Amino acid sequence: MCGIVGYIGNKQALPILVQGLRDLEYRGYDSSGLVILDPEQSRGGGIMQRVRAVGKIDNLVAKLKDAKYPGTLGIAHTRWATHGGVTEENAHPHIAQDGGIAIVHNGIIENYRELKEKLKKDGVKFTSDTDSEVLAHLIAHYYSTPPSIPPPQGEGKAGIRSHSSPLPGSPKSVTAFGVGLRGEDKGGGENQLANAVKSALKEVRGTYGLLVVHADHPDQIIAARLGSPLVIGVAAGEHYIASDVTPMLAYTKQVTFLDDGEVAEISRDNLRISNLKDELITKPTTQIDWDQAKAQKGGYEHFMLKEIMEQPTVFEDAIRGRINMEEGTAVLGGLNISEDQMRDLKRIVIISGGTAYYAGLVGKYAFERLAQIPCEVDFSSEFRYRDPICDKKTLVYAVSQSGETADTIMAVREAKRKGAHVRGIINVVGSTIAREIGAGSYIHAGPEMAVASTKAYTNMVALLLLNAIQLGRLKHVTQATGKRMLESLLAVPAKMNEILAQAEEIKKIAKKYTHYKNLFFLGRGVNYPVALEGSLKLKEISYIHSEGYAGGEMKHGPLALVSDDFPVVAILTRNQLYEKMKSNIMEARARGAKTLIIATEGDQEASEVADDIIFVPKTMELLEPLLNTIPLQLLAYYIAVELGRDVDRPRNLAKSVTVE
Ligand code: G6P
Repeated sequence: MCGIVGYIGNKQALPILVQGLRDLEYRGYDSSGLVILDPEQSRGGGIMQRVRAVGKIDNLVAKLKDAKYPGTLGIAHTRWATHGGVTEENAHPHIAQDGGIAIVHNGIIENYRELKEKLKKDGVKFTSDTDSEVLAHLIAHYYSTPPSIPPPQGEGKAGIRSHSSPLPGSPKSVTAFGVGLRGEDKGGGENQLANAVKSALKEVRGTYGLLVVHADHPDQIIAARLGSPLVIGVAAGEHYIASDVTPMLAYTKQVTFLDDGEVAEISRDNLRISNLKDELITKPTTQIDWDQAKAQKGGYEHFMLKEIMEQPTVFEDAIRGRINMEEGTAVLGGLNISEDQMRDLKRIVIISGGTAYYAGLVGKYAFERLAQIPCEVDFSSEFRYRDPICDKKTLVYAVSQSGETADTIMAVREAKRKGAHVRGIINVVGSTIAREIGAGSYIHAGPEMAVASTKAYTNMVALLLLNAIQLGRLKHVTQATGKRMLESLLAVPAKMNEILAQAEEIKKIAKKYTHYKNLFFLGRGVNYPVALEGSLKLKEISYIHSEGYAGGEMKHGPLALVSDDFPVVAILTRNQLYEKMKSNIMEARARGAKTLIIATEGDQEASEVADDIIFVPKTMELLEPLLNTIPLQLLAYYIAVELGRDVDRPRNLAKSVTVE
């Protein structure tokens, strides 16, 4: 959701920024834009080139053909509308009235109305309906009328070194805020632009990932973060900045993650990080091991199909090195909780959203069955507002692909505040949640680019199962049972491949379901969350209405909807609920429903209740979601393709939901 890219170096910024925006497309957006500074011309010349466009990045690229952009510094943005409609005026970058300052912003400025009113009274004219524009004007205000700042310790003389000259080429209509003063780029308290950013941010309530440039400072980008991620890629004589590491993978693997409350002054050769009080912060760089190829389509028509097909491989990555077959248990490092504390746990809570929530629901079955600890699964967006019951005998799992979902970040903070043990099950290395929790496991699914999550789901389930086995082994689960489960886990990738090999068959079946307006997805027990996830996949990418239901609940209402025009997709694999599930399917068929059944290989009896059938290999019941979800992913995918949908970037949705 919203993407930021910035570049400062010696190469032409434009292609890097445009490619960076494309790399971030998967996050979801509805407009884009960029600003480029020309170092030759902008010093004293105020040359700032801005282009913005509504819709796809190709629309932006089309507009860029009208001019040359030689600059080696620039910032760019993909916007996902929150405040103000999808228009060019609302697209970023926003430029302050003095024409000197440009910003791109992710997040939400909660007190923007108040700030806007104040700025308006001082003569500022707004050109957009966004909350973000406020930041540009506020920074411009402090840039031209800096408050006196006490000297920071050890940083020498503070304050603003300014020598005034009007900004050539910029509007002179700035009233009470005066005309911008020029400053030289200095570190610490002497950096006029950084100081202005800090002063402005002290007035702001809300969240931001922010990049700021000034036409008169073609040697620096200021970055600031609170609640909205920013990563800085470090290379010789250049820096790349982005909302996540994807855009910089082609150039550097050395990155520095900004943390909340930090401001970075980024020049070609230097990176200075401090907080709003201008206390210097020393940060290590982290080596990222994702390679660029993994973040590309690799011959598939869509990222989603590629990611579905990658599941056997990334599943192996998820479990590799985490199995102790001899002891029949899982080996999970970095947990920050002792075995005694684990044995003493009274509750498990799983917090997450979207697909991660459905992975969490599978986890509930595993924790309750194996560890016999009551487990509750909650949407992060609900958990944080309902005064959750958490204490030091509660273990909270935060499950998230991106590690940046705003609701889950806030829910994690709430759980920590209440004294619970918190573990992350996260995909993106170095993401906010991973760093804030500092305990838990990466799922190693690699970059997931399609908005609809697939391989991250299976790997989340894998990690939840490993955690449940580990906890179970500390309590009631025998070595033999642990071993059997682990052996079954090791057999999963081959079984996934068997399902994926049926893709063409599933495609043919999918075509038969394309014209329906409504579908039911039914499952029971551990396959109930599978039904929910199957239904979510379908609605996300095909825009067909679907409902996921527990089979046994149909008779309490939903059965009224069933007709020959409302087919049922049901999971009827051979487990303890087989007969019950079969009855539920028959109830639907008796009312005219057409049925597509997911059944266990060799189960001819299942064909009796199926109009169409997809077979999956047999596995242990708790592991079934790892296999049974895959045909539903493929079903949704092929239906969406058949309908001509934008599969990887469905309308209205974002990959990473960084606003509440
Ligand atoms: C968005 C995405 C979903 C994802 C959910 C949770 O809605 O479109 O695919 O499941 O966020 O994201 P997370 O990154 O926390 O797993």
